[in-house]
Amino acid sequence: MRIRMMMLALAGAGTAAWSGTALAADPGDPERGETLFKRCVACHSFEPNGRNKAGPRLHGLFGRKAGTVSDYKYSPALKDSALVWTPDTVDALFAKGPEEVVPGSKMPLQVMSNPKDRADLIAFLRKVTAE
Ligand code: HEC
Repeated sequence: MRIRMMMLALAGAGTAAWSGTALAADPGDPERGETLFKRCVACHSFEPNGRNKAGPRLHGLFGRKAGTVSDYKYSPALKDSALVWTPDTVDALFAKGPEEVVPGSKMPLQVMSNPKDRADLIAFLRKVTAE
């Protein structure tokens, strides 16, 4: 019983830690996210055997340290950054723009100012980069 209570408390704490972002409120719509990914597809694949394009393949993105696809030539800025890609850091990447999150990155300037767009895009990415 005590252990159960503790686990509930921990689950609660996990949720609280997320509440600072729009993601907590909005689990995102992966179908709408697929449409938004059209802005990325010219430079990124997401399939397990996807190839690098102008940008690195995104398969296995979440939980991965930034700049670690072994056969992709990153900018020193991204390679040397301490970022780990999570829904929160990907959210920040497009809320603020790559040039602010990773100054010196060769990822082109782009911002997705609508939190709903970011939540939907991330929901899509979480699904397809893990499959
Ligand atoms: C015109 C090409 C281009 C477009 C469009 C583009 N990216 Fe990128 N992206 C890049 C490049 C180039 C890099 C590598 C940057 C570096 O090395 O500094 C990158 C890096 C990334 C990374 C870091 C990957 C890693 O392995 O660390 C993520 C995540 C990412 N892009 C997501 C996206 C998403 C999501 C979109 C669509 C909203 C998008 N990108 C649109 C070119 C692009």
